[in-house]
Amino acid sequence: MAKPKREPIQALPPVLRKLCAAAQEARQHAYAPYSGFRVGAAVYTSDGRMFTGANVENASYGLSVCAERSAVLAAVLAGARELRAVAISSVLKPPAAPCGMCRQTLAEFASDCEVLLCGPSAAGNDTLRLRLSTLLPNAFSPASLHAFAEQQETRKPQPKKAAAKRAEAPVKEPHLRRQRKRSAKNAR
Ligand code: THU
Repeated sequence: MAKPKREPIQALPPVLRKLCAAAQEARQHAYAPYSGFRVGAAVYTSDGRMFTGANVENASYGLSVCAERSAVLAAVLAGARELRAVAISSVLKPPAAPCGMCRQTLAEFASDCEVLLCGPSAAGNDTLRLRLSTLLPNAFSPASLHAFAEQQETRKPQPKKAAAKRAEAPVKEPHLRRQRKRSAKNAR
């Protein structure tokens, strides 16, 4: 993986600086009584809005939601569909990168976007600046399913005869036989 660029927060473009500050503020609202690892996230959408999220854990551990996904959900619920940048704040040094599930969630709404990994506060903390495509190369994405749909359309249609033969083949299982009878009746 290409080495992420280390940049002082103060050197970032104003909008990205604001995004880091929003992630750091959101981190204050994290609910992480089990891991104690508080994470804040902020996303910047292509229509110029910002949404924040924090991790919310659960006594049933597997139900915990990461900060990044809660920020993405907030953006999507407000009508946004495209992400330009995401900032993630944690105390880890170097700052934590998003987990695999969050990378995939981000990829759903960003063909590629800037990812800023930052510390818990602006003071004395460098950010790591990289791109989602570096964190999740060759992602499975909406484009993959569009390509699949196209392939289906251009696929040769099955010869009618084979399909008809299959429909006439005897069915042994009684419940399937009943089902077939019912659908034949409904088709009439
Ligand atoms: N966590 C996040 O919020 N984002 C990540 O990308 C990695 C992990 C949270 C989930 C859990 O509440 C805590 O960090 C420890 O895994």
